[in-house]
Amino acid sequence: MCRKITVLAPAKINLALHVTGRRPDGFHELETCVIFGGAADRISISHCELDSATSTSPRISVHGRFADKLGNAADNIVLKAAVLLMQQAKDDSLVSSVPFCETLISLDKRLPVASGIGGGSSDAAAVLRGLNEFWELGYSPSKLEVMSVSLGSDVPMCVRNMPVLATGTGTELENLPDLPDFAIVLVHPGFALSTPDVFAKLVEKNNTRLPVIPEVFGDLSSLANWLETARNDLEPAAIKLCPEVRMCLDHLKQTGGCTLARMSGSGATCFGIFETRLQADRAQVKLMSEIPDYWIQSGSMISLR
Ligand code: C5P
Repeated sequence: MCRKITVLAPAKINLALHVTGRRPDGFHELETCVIFGGAADRISISHCELDSATSTSPRISVHGRFADKLGNAADNIVLKAAVLLMQQAKDDSLVSSVPFCETLISLDKRLPVASGIGGGSSDAAAVLRGLNEFWELGYSPSKLEVMSVSLGSDVPMCVRNMPVLATGTGTELENLPDLPDFAIVLVHPGFALSTPDVFAKLVEKNNTRLPVIPEVFGDLSSLANWLETARNDLEPAAIKLCPEVRMCLDHLKQTGGCTLARMSGSGATCFGIFETRLQADRAQVKLMSEIPDYWIQSGSMISLR
């Protein structure tokens, strides 16, 4: 029987993101609370016939709603992740008989590209998790996290795939206290925003730190109350480049049951938080009639603990 596994690459959502400084290497010091969910790309991994005698790494195929927006980007990050893991396994002499080149990685691209919800980073993380299982390498989740730093600042948090506080450049992770379950609506206006361009528009780089994180969030209103005291410092910079971000936020805030609306990461995707999935689904229907050209997706947060 042909073996095939499928791994989800969920959206990464920055509930709050404070930029607290700029480092000499140009990267920024961040404090950000991240959750996963709402929508996801899907990565399937299976065996394939050897493409050519010279092929040494897995093959990538991309389909799905946003496949055509990807260009070479998927090849780059998905293939980079696969090659990184393959190289590590070879260096560790873990397996000599794995036919790395007879592996097909198929990416169903459902998340908008360059949109602040870590699509590429989440795909890379899912490839690491999936290939680790498919090739039976046995690397621990923490080993995969360490390995993934070279792929990008957001990749380690995506490997962990659970609510975290990320500090430093985004790669130092600490699990958040248990969060109440909630639902999410994601809204994207259809414009790709480059992360470096958004950081370049940031006027104040030395902002205040995140407010102290409570030891427990009893319910959604206590989480929302805490989030109201935090910000996404990149929001004003993103709005300068893409004024439609403000429209996404205004529309979300006007839907019934929206507890909080904010931009994620460097944008332009905005998210709304809802107590129930029913409220989020109803908001999705309303928004689809108001702003039909935007990408709108309701879903639940992932709590894996
Ligand atoms: O790490 P990654 O390649 O995903 O970062 C993309 C870009 O985002 C960087 O080249 C940098 O311009 C910006 N960035 C930053 N500070 C961070 C993370 C990313 O300035 N902490």
